[in-house]
Amino acid sequence: MSDADGEVAPDDLLEVVQRAIDRLGHHTDPAVRAEVEALLAGIDAVHRTALARLVDSLQSMGGDALMTRLLADPAIRLLLMSYDLVAVDRRLMAEEALDDVRGHLHAHGLDVELIDVLGGVVYVQFHGIDRSDVPEHLARQDVERALKAGLRGFQQLEIGARKATPSGGSVFVPLAGLRRLNRPVLQVVARTTDIEPGALRGVSADNHPILLANVGGQFHAVQDRCGDSPLPLQFSTLEGHVLTCSWHGCQYDVRTGHRLDRSGPSLAVYPVNVADGNVQVAIAVAPVGEPM
Ligand code: FES
Repeated sequence: MSDADGEVAPDDLLEVVQRAIDRLGHHTDPAVRAEVEALLAGIDAVHRTALARLVDSLQSMGGDALMTRLLADPAIRLLLMSYDLVAVDRRLMAEEALDDVRGHLHAHGLDVELIDVLGGVVYVQFHGIDRSDVPEHLARQDVERALKAGLRGFQQLEIGARKATPSGGSVFVPLAGLRRLNRPVLQVVARTTDIEPGALRGVSADNHPILLANVGGQFHAVQDRCGDSPLPLQFSTLEGHVLTCSWHGCQYDVRTGHRLDRSGPSLAVYPVNVADGNVQVAIAVAPVGEPM
């Protein structure tokens, strides 16, 4: 996003760079593609090595206190996270996103408390909703908008507490995993015509059993194993986005992989792309610039 002076906001810079790399990486001239890949590999090698040594030195000189202070600067944080050199608390990112909407909510006698962040799912609790003139669905929309804008990878908002995980802590995700210049390694696993709307199909990619689901023309891919069990899900039924396991009836949201009753593990969800009538699934990612 650009401001009035035409400058790109720091948070959007990686997106802009990513798009430029994607364009050049798909250039019709193979010589240009090779040149771009060599250039990116060279830049990455020079910067990554130097930055890693710099972070090591800063850490040994100033310890965690100095690093915390430095990482409070969004520009420094953005740079280091794009090179996998810092891990960040997703909870902190969610809190920062919620701060953007809290002023507005407070003005209506309402507050939002962050309960937890689990992957792309954010759990919050509203306080004062029964006395506020803002109905819950509007407050929810405000919060979802703020999280979409401020928390990379945000997928779903849940009101209320989630069941505790064994660790009981918030989930730490390497920031670079969210923002780094990686690309999914897509592979064709089916033709779109193989799977009618409302249908399921078990496929395999890199020896991973995958279940493809067509929900009203949208394709989704999850692990083809029910929870922790070795039993396949390909004999399940699909109603809308709800997958019901044929073995003992567990139900999952096939879009997010979440078990509906929250009493068991979620299914792994894989990125899906449809191109030229093919359904592609990504099991792995690779840094941009590596050969396809
Ligand atoms: S194996 Fe799916 S519900 Fe038991």
